[in-house]
Amino acid sequence: MKSKRASFFSHETLEKNVGWLILATIAVVSIAGLVQIVPLFFQHSTTAPVQGVEPYTALRLAGRDVYIREGCVGCHSQQVRTLAAEVQRYGHYSEAGEGVYDRPFLWGSKRTGPDLARVGGRYSDDWHRVHLNNPRDVVPESNMPAYPWLRQTPVASDPVQAGMRALRTLGVPYSDEQIAGAAAELAGKTEEDALVAYLQGLGLAMKKQGR
Ligand code: HEC
Repeated sequence: MKSKRASFFSHETLEKNVGWLILATIAVVSIAGLVQIVPLFFQHSTTAPVQGVEPYTALRLAGRDVYIREGCVGCHSQQVRTLAAEVQRYGHYSEAGEGVYDRPFLWGSKRTGPDLARVGGRYSDDWHRVHLNNPRDVVPESNMPAYPWLRQTPVASDPVQAGMRALRTLGVPYSDEQIAGAAAELAGKTEEDALVAYLQGLGLAMKKQGR
């Protein structure tokens, strides 16, 4: 009988030589990976800010730090999903360009309380102050914790300025004047002032566009 020898470019080569199989697998996975990753470098909608989204002012940045420290993200998400029910309740769904200055992002994944991505302007500053001091004063059935110490604690400006400098190294366009002016902006402010300023700005860029 004539022996049948498969050519080098056949499936048999891969099936019988683990070395070739590994190399071929690496080649296929690399190409598939590049096909997915490379287009993202050119897709600016994920990296460019949505119109009207500005870097956080020193006061709002301080408020964001309080939000992180107090663990608000454990009960509140900041991402409106593209589902009809969510859009009707909260407003336009969240876009990647809204969070370009959020480092780290605070999208969250748990909703013991409502989503806060569009809470800016929904209530007055006074409502937020009463609510943070004791949520039950405005929403009797609320199980949100009270944060009465925030109104007694002054904001320290040094960590905020250091944060602004760190964010600048990551590409957030803070000017020297903004960083130098942070101390004056925060003088006499409490953590409650900062947190309310942060909350009142959430989602405003989209609302101003009528979205
Ligand atoms: C244990 C879970 C929990 C934590 C932690 C928590 N919240 Fe809440 N939050 C709720 C619940 C539940 C509600 C709905 C009832 C109410 O309005 O109090 C709520 C409501 C709110 C609302 C009103 C939202 C709306 O659209 O009506 C704001 C603003 C808010 N929380 C901010 C905060 C901030 C800021 C922090 C951190 C300092 C925080 N929450 C921490 C559970 C929580």
